[in-house]
Amino acid sequence: MTDKNDRAGVPASGARTRRSPSRQPLARSAERARADAIFLGRLRRHHDELRWLYMELYDNADMFGELVDQLRRFYDERPAALRALDERRERAGAWYRERGQLGMQMYIDNFAGTIAGVEGRLDYLERCGVTYVHLMPFLDTPADRSRSDGGYAVSDFRRVKPGLGTMEDLARLAERCHERGISLCMDFVMNHTSDEHEWARRARAGEGEYMSRYFFESRQDVIDRYTRDVPQVFPTTAPGHFTYLPELGQHVMTQFYPYQWDLNYRNPRVFNEMMYNFLFLANQGIDVMRLDAVPYIWKQLGTNCRNLPQVHTIVRMMRMISEVVCPGVVLLGEVVMAPVEVVPYFGTVEKPECHMLYNVTTMATTWSTVACRDTRLLRSQLEAVCALPRAYTFLNYLRCHDDIGWGLDYATLSGWGMEEVPHKRYLNDYFQGLVPGSTSRGELYNADPVTGDARFCATTASMCGVEAAALAGDGAAMDVALRKDVMLHAYLLAQSGLPIIYSGDELAQVNDYSYRDDPERADDSRYVHRGRFDWSLVGRADEPGSAQGRIFGALEELEGIRRDEAVFDADASVEIVDYSDPAILWIRRSAGGRTLEAVFNFSDDEKSLWMPGRARFTDLVSGDEGEFETFSLPAWDFRWYLRA
Ligand code: GLC
Repeated sequence: MTDKNDRAGVPASGARTRRSPSRQPLARSAERARADAIFLGRLRRHHDELRWLYMELYDNADMFGELVDQLRRFYDERPAALRALDERRERAGAWYRERGQLGMQMYIDNFAGTIAGVEGRLDYLERCGVTYVHLMPFLDTPADRSRSDGGYAVSDFRRVKPGLGTMEDLARLAERCHERGISLCMDFVMNHTSDEHEWARRARAGEGEYMSRYFFESRQDVIDRYTRDVPQVFPTTAPGHFTYLPELGQHVMTQFYPYQWDLNYRNPRVFNEMMYNFLFLANQGIDVMRLDAVPYIWKQLGTNCRNLPQVHTIVRMMRMISEVVCPGVVLLGEVVMAPVEVVPYFGTVEKPECHMLYNVTTMATTWSTVACRDTRLLRSQLEAVCALPRAYTFLNYLRCHDDIGWGLDYATLSGWGMEEVPHKRYLNDYFQGLVPGSTSRGELYNADPVTGDARFCATTASMCGVEAAALAGDGAAMDVALRKDVMLHAYLLAQSGLPIIYSGDELAQVNDYSYRDDPERADDSRYVHRGRFDWSLVGRADEPGSAQGRIFGALEELEGIRRDEAVFDADASVEIVDYSDPAILWIRRSAGGRTLEAVFNFSDDEKSLWMPGRARFTDLVSGDEGEFETFSLPAWDFRWYLRA
């Protein structure tokens, strides 16, 4: 097994100082010359294309010149340890694709109060096998939490939200993480700022320079056209695309909440300044930048304002900018869109955009499969993913901090007699526990009275039935719920890409309804699955019979197998077996002459299943070995069989 630190391209020790140690002038100048050569080499590689795209979008040579000067400045300011890490990662290749990588997503305050608190909990994260931590938004936002969208309304891109710590704390946490081979991901909320950001405050005061960084509008017909052509992001909690500002007698574009003002990327000043913010944050030691809501950043009247070609130009420029200044940094696109819109964000082999994208359709399809006990749609979705070039890396997850939107392939579903509106209604009813046989618990999100559409919120454990079984004190139901929860994680880990676990899911943490009593949060049901991490559950992880012991132990075991076994390589060939029983999902992975048959039972019945032929297999979980052709699989259970 390779050393864990090696896998992340991070050394176990050394290179810890943020500044190069003082050296003799001669050595310093040799170092300087080397650094110059590296920067100029990278710039030379990208300059022409970067300039071409910039001029195409902005036609402003002065601003381009300023951008290049700033790239140099941020490169010079980049701590020596991070520059060394960049070089190691460039040599190692795509470190985030290693099969030993395991991510966890968490809110700093929920998990450990502050950034320093997270540092104090690194032993726990290491115990969970985590090599990648996504810290949910932590930059400064309006103090009134009802106006912060869970941190996605940034007031200052260079300041940590006071209660959570400081930039120095962040840089120190990054260093401590790197020492343990853990990388850090943060949100780069680039589509909008909060209305308390300095630019917004100056725009509100009527300063033209700052007004031009947003979209101000006074023509009602233009506003009406946007309303007609652009889908609503939060149809119930924040309807409309503009917010009226009486002090200016104008509307400002706010596609998300009224306090999140959309930035105007037609203005090169906005692009340049946001790139400087991006590089500033990268220089604190951030390894992965999650490009929040990136499909929305370019607006064009008469279009739906999503995924426009200029968005791709901007992402491509960001990729080149990061490759010049901080090539170890990974761009993760948050593209919660239909698959045809998602894949283009990888760019092309010659002109890549994002390194990684969320596997959002697979996530939503997984839960639809749970509710229907029919894997056909999931098979076709996984086949579509398998058909993509293997170099494309997805971030896989069962759930995140956001709602689950039912963005499924309805064309295919309707061929099987399942129409969009009734199917969505069924899914929402099922997961609220309103359908006989459902043990799921959770809440609707943004139920739209006009379209009848709604999304869904809950933790993985609550959706699997852990909450309902615990409340009912029903041991048999708890057994099924935990088996389902473990099975879904085994399925998550059987996919190629980076698996991310939501903090608390490793201990089967259930929904937290206390947000309803908090006036600053009561309107946003996403808080039902963003509860405070329950540290008391950690103690129970060591109790073998407990729910926590079962989940935690199973995950630990599965992650260990994935780390050690080459069939889980990102470059393995993956096939979705067309098994005759639609309740069965069968993933076959082959690498290095070895084949894994990963079989999952998405039904309430025990199944008798057939291998393609009699052969010797090892059950990777139990370690049992034997020769057989048929095997049985309990309801909601799975097997990872390695062909001998
Ligand atoms: C992203 C985030 C979501 C937030 C939105 C607005 O979609 O995941 O939580 O509300 O962006 O920034």
